[in-house]
Amino acid sequence: MCGLAILPKQFDKGKIFMNLKAEDVFRPGAFPEYTYISRKSQFSDLSYEFRLNQAIRVSGFLTSLVGPSKMGKTILCEKVIGFGRIVEISGADFGADTDFWKLVATKVGLSYEGQVISGKTVYDTCDEYAMKENYLLTKDKIIDYYKENDLVLVIDDFHYAPEGKRLVVAQQLKDAIRRGFKAIVVSLPHRADEAIRQNADLSGRLSLINMEPWEVDDLKEIAKLGFGKLGIVIEDSVAERIAVESLSSPQLMQYICLNICTLLEMMGDKNQRVRLEMLEKAYHYTTANFEYGDVVSLMRKGPNTRGKKRISFRARDGKEYDLYELLVKSIAENPPLMKLDYETIKKRLHEMIADGCKRPEQRAIKESLNKLQELLNEREDIFKVVDWKEGTLYIVDPLFLFYLRWGGGRHVSQWC
Ligand SMILES: Nc1ncnc2c1ncn2[C@@H]1O[C@H](COP(=O)(O)OP(=O)(O)OP(=O)(O)O)[C@@H](O)[C@H]1O
Ligand SMILES: [Mg+2]
Repeated sequence: MCGLAILPKQFDKGKIFMNLKAEDVFRPGAFPEYTYISRKSQFSDLSYEFRLNQAIRVSGFLTSLVGPSKMGKTILCEKVIGFGRIVEISGADFGADTDFWKLVATKVGLSYEGQVISGKTVYDTCDEYAMKENYLLTKDKIIDYYKENDLVLVIDDFHYAPEGKRLVVAQQLKDAIRRGFKAIVVSLPHRADEAIRQNADLSGRLSLINMEPWEVDDLKEIAKLGFGKLGIVIEDSVAERIAVESLSSPQLMQYICLNICTLLEMMGDKNQRVRLEMLEKAYHYTTANFEYGDVVSLMRKGPNTRGKKRISFRARDGKEYDLYELLVKSIAENPPLMKLDYETIKKRLHEMIADGCKRPEQRAIKESLNKLQELLNEREDIFKVVDWKEGTLYIVDPLFLFYLRWGGGRHVSQWC
């Protein structure tokens, strides 16, 4: 007789769960094998995976994938193409003198230049009498190799390639895709448009995919799926709180969930339940991985006043702040927003000022925002965290806003 078997904890409805570790399940810096979520764009019924797959199947087209920072562009390519077929290069691999085809060849182990003797490649020989001939692998051979092996070239972070180089790459790609070479160019919005999307030579030969920020419901799924796999209970409302704080970034969601697991482990919590009270601690822990201290202090200091004292305003907390300090504080306020129009900024500023005290005026607010933008533009990429344009302040880097809200071990409402 076949009695009811008592299954060990790892067995669940016919599925065998290995003893998964939190760091296998939540992977903020790598391919999330156990917590991959497929999602659809707001404007289409088709999933991003389906669209990208369709795009690369059509011969003769170059795929341009554009989306904000940390939204899952690279992971999407890896998911759809698979690690066996994907060849990833980065815009940062290009210097002004980089030979595009040499880079593309060496990435798959093809030796681009060499010497041959009787048809064999020779890297080193002591034979003085051997007939040596230099060769250069032709572009055609490289393209054929990619086609024969069904490889797809992904040029990731294309915006990192030097500006002049982007056009050269686009020209090479134009010719190659006509011959069946498959390539995807990935970049941040507005950062590499001219070379690819606004290149007349490529018009009519582009498949465009715009990746939008993540919705709370999709982010929630990462937590529910992952904690489920680890046998940890999480209520929908708690998953939602974390999702809101993840600022439309799946990476932040993965980071926070991983840190919640660390906390549960540290507390030796037997119930294995994610509790609302532990979230703030997990947020603080998460910011320990982010290095935006210099960015925040530059923004708070604002441009050099050349010895002139700035006007200060009395806030509700009884302290005095200048306009730059108030602006940074207003960005960090609740609810966390990735896009603040001028009216919202003004409202937040005014609400911070103590009753009956002087408030910053429109002209001064706008001027400070312009100056802040100029200040950040002059600095390295890590400083490009916000974009003030046409009356709206866009948060370009979700990790920065998260740091602003939870960094330095302080709570959002008391960080200044
Ligand atoms: N579909 C997904 N499901 C679950 N988690 C995801 C998904 N896509 C991305 N992530 C998480 O977000 C992290 C960052 O993703 P990815 O590196 O693809 O972003 P990106 O848009 O390429 O970022 P960047 O702008 O820095 O290049 C991943 O390591 C993973 O933890
Ligand atoms: Mg990427």
